[in-house]
Amino acid sequence: MKTPRLAAAAIIVVFLMPAAHAANPMRGQLLYENWCYHCHLTEIHFRVDSKVDSWGKLLQMVAVWQAEMNLGWKPEDVADVASYLNRRYYGLVGTGIE
Ligand code: HEC
Repeated sequence: MKTPRLAAAAIIVVFLMPAAHAANPMRGQLLYENWCYHCHLTEIHFRVDSKVDSWGKLLQMVAVWQAEMNLGWKPEDVADVASYLNRRYYGLVGTGIE
């Protein structure tokens, strides 16, 4: 009875794999508060001359900062944090993931 057991194992693996990623702002908040918040004054995100004027730019800034800090975040992590910041501060539309 080797085959059924293998099939069962395969099914378990499929269930353990993360589903197609939908950005998770709750997780983004944790990552942000853990790694970024201490340095940022929240006002940075309200600046009149904010460099962030699009979703692409927000993703880019988050990616730049995590690289700066050598965090090795995956694209999903960057998207989670960006979607948290977007909900909290920026309110950009057309993110394609909300
Ligand atoms: C060393 C302190 C420091 C750390 C750590 C830091 N930041 Fe920043 N961040 C800044 C400063 C200062 C600015 C504004 C400077 C500028 O205009 O480039 C900024 C700007 C930004 C902006 C653009 C704000 C805007 O609207 O113009 C984003 C987004 C951002 N940071 C995200 C992050 C994320 C995500 C992390 C954690 C991975 C992080 N930062 C960690 C200091 C920091």
